[in-house]
Amino acid sequence: MSTNKLSINADQTLSVIDRQIYGHFSEHLGRCIYEGIWVGEDSPIENTKGIRNDVIKALKELKIPGLRWPGGCFADEYHWKDGIGPKEQRKRMINTHWGGVVENNHFGTHEFMLLCELLECEPIICGNVGSGTVQEMSEWVEYMTFDGVSPMAQLRADNGQEKPWKLKYFGVGNENWGCGGNMRPEYYADLYRRYATYVRNYGDNKVFKIACGPNNDDYRWTEVLMREAGRFMDGLSLHYYTVPDQWHRKGSATGFPEHEWIDTLVKAQHMDELITRHSAIMDQYDPDKRVALVVDEWGTWYDVEPGTNPGFLYQQNSIRDALVAALTFNIFHAHSDRVRMANIAQVINVLQSVILTEGDKMILTPTYHVFNMYKVHQDAQLLQLDLQSEDFTSNGKSIKAVSATASKDANGTIHISLAHMNPSQTTELEIDLRGLANEKFSVQATELTANKMDAHNTFEAPETVKPQSFTAFEVNGHSLKLTLSPASVTSISIA
Ligand code: AHR
Repeated sequence: MSTNKLSINADQTLSVIDRQIYGHFSEHLGRCIYEGIWVGEDSPIENTKGIRNDVIKALKELKIPGLRWPGGCFADEYHWKDGIGPKEQRKRMINTHWGGVVENNHFGTHEFMLLCELLECEPIICGNVGSGTVQEMSEWVEYMTFDGVSPMAQLRADNGQEKPWKLKYFGVGNENWGCGGNMRPEYYADLYRRYATYVRNYGDNKVFKIACGPNNDDYRWTEVLMREAGRFMDGLSLHYYTVPDQWHRKGSATGFPEHEWIDTLVKAQHMDELITRHSAIMDQYDPDKRVALVVDEWGTWYDVEPGTNPGFLYQQNSIRDALVAALTFNIFHAHSDRVRMANIAQVINVLQSVILTEGDKMILTPTYHVFNMYKVHQDAQLLQLDLQSEDFTSNGKSIKAVSATASKDANGTIHISLAHMNPSQTTELEIDLRGLANEKFSVQATELTANKMDAHNTFEAPETVKPQSFTAFEVNGHSLKLTLSPASVTSISIA
């Protein structure tokens, strides 16, 4: 008999899984914006006003709820007025953070807002605290959202946008403990209060202000920010990357040694402890959970692909990344009372991307497929569950072999998602469904799996890893018995 049991209480709903947990991040870094998104109107690659059509279509399929821009570290060096007006007159400069390449500012505020309109997603703009002024930040918000007579509204109209845009999410600086100014939390907390004061709500545009939060386990940063500035913010960010080895030797995206499989998954699982402990500090200052924890940078970070610019952070993406994504979503769901936004780093051609491009070619990564399989959870209600799983142990490290989440959508359909960590053996799992509304139900299931630990898609073989219909289960009354494939992500719908 299986020792792995999952009991789901379909009549016990917990928090809502905010769709913004499924957000993405796009920085002026490597080939994310230029090539990945923006090719220019004269490009032979099919585009809409300069934005690649293939990428728009693929991202729309994911129902991406939000997109963060322009950084990252780039945000605290970005001066938004360089990126408006006629393109040929925009400043050319060196992107000192990322690869020392020329930034021609052809992709600026208008182009980003158009991208969000095409994707039907919320823009999430990160302002410059590190090297920008209060006036500059204040005027950017006025430029984007003021409806009426004002210098910035006039400038926007002169640049072809008469009507203001809607802007909900605004980050007041990025990593101000590091690339955004190397500040102490006390100093940044005061700066946050000052800058955020001038991020105005114009008309009915209400801005959700996100303060720079901690790096990894810097609990003191959270403590100081919540104590000194908690009442002035709507969200506090958290950045955590899954690095299999050390920062100076991170490990490869593919062709990695066997022990890096478990090392990676154990490090991804660490997200749960980080959220738990940062949330506990937030609870002391904000017991009603008004302030969201915004994990606006997360994902795997490996050594760059051989032969590529080290400042471009270009890496492949394998079934291991799919497991990291699924495990991370399961953790976010479990904490969805506090975690109400997250943005994977980054959407295209940088770190744990959902899309890779090469010239006019585009491939979907295993991580893309996880986002697609999990999109059913967006805005659904988290269900109470109890999971007993054996450990998967390898090279002296252990993790639960199965990770699970379940939700109920607006139509009453129950969605269960499972991540199975063992890369070489199947695992039996019994699911007990309690509290179902109907005696009769139908089950549909999909899995993403591969027979190699580093299986991935390439431009020559773009469909090596893709979702397939999953049939290795039996239904017996309210119980399902499944045989999970090695290294797999499985989605089950019960209607
Ligand atoms: O995502 C790459 C970089 O990682 C971002 O620019 C920065 O915020 C973080 O350190």
